[in-house]
Amino acid sequence: MKVTVKSPSNIAFIKYWGRKNALNLPFNDSMSMNLSGCITETSVEFRADLKTDEVSINGEIVEGNKRQKVVDFLDLVREKAGINTKAVVESKTNFPIAVGIASSAAAFSALAMAATNAAGLTLSKKELSILARRGSGSACRSIFDGFAYWKKGNSDRTSYAHQLAPEDYWNLVDIVAVVGQEEKKVSSFEGHGGATSSPYFRKRQRMLPFRISEMEKAILTRNFEKLGELTEEEAVDMHVIAMTSQSPIFYWNEGTMQVMNKLMAWRKEGLLGYFTMDAGPSVHVICQEKDAEEMKKRLDKLPLVEYTIVNRVAEGTKVIG
Ligand code: PMV
Repeated sequence: MKVTVKSPSNIAFIKYWGRKNALNLPFNDSMSMNLSGCITETSVEFRADLKTDEVSINGEIVEGNKRQKVVDFLDLVREKAGINTKAVVESKTNFPIAVGIASSAAAFSALAMAATNAAGLTLSKKELSILARRGSGSACRSIFDGFAYWKKGNSDRTSYAHQLAPEDYWNLVDIVAVVGQEEKKVSSFEGHGGATSSPYFRKRQRMLPFRISEMEKAILTRNFEKLGELTEEEAVDMHVIAMTSQSPIFYWNEGTMQVMNKLMAWRKEGLLGYFTMDAGPSVHVICQEKDAEEMKKRLDKLPLVEYTIVNRVAEGTKVIG
């Protein structure tokens, strides 16, 4: 049976940065919203006639490391289902890969639901979240509609996300300013591995419990300015850790800085938008619906912004065929 699933990427307000082990167990809780404009559609079919797994992304056959990650993930599903059958995996994304829009979150949440359904398994959302985390940590948050909270846990069974609020709870907008489409040189996988070597890693961990509870409160009480301030602090801290790891990683480029500077200036004029960046140069501009049109207009005019992607809060992973 062929199963097709649609899943969003998500943007983290509190970041997952630093992995304890190969199970993608994080050092801290994280929180995010799903992105309506950054979607992956994946179909999976297990077929007895296949000798190897066939993986394609946006119509192109994938080889090497990228393919291996999918094959390893399918192995987890095969083990659960007690089958050996190989599969055809076809994935399509409507946004650029590896520029800081957490494409792996959309990819592995979609793959988790499509592959388990195609293998005849029925998993709860919690179980799907646990499984998706094995492919990419942030994927465990995309499963749920709206806003998600990933509790770090301390084992495979205890590290998974839950819904913090549904998609219609708060009409936040994330306008992604794409400021370079060159694929990043250092993956988040490598970044997570090196994070603890930064002298600022422990400091952030000490600050996080307070910031996390403040962020949860800001989301649940729809306190936009508080959410914005905490989101920016958190983004800067994550990137400071990346920049000061033993093998330093600089994800920002001059476009990133241009957008950040403009946002700070526009705030002084009363137009409220806050920045956050994932593992890439793209700037996620968090604003309110009433300001979205004006914000997009201004961002589109910036010389280093190539284009923008407007996202509302989206539902989570769903079977569509
Ligand atoms: O899920 P990964 O391994 O691609 O890591 C995601 C890391 C960030 O996007 C930078 C932060 C996050 O929590 O999404």
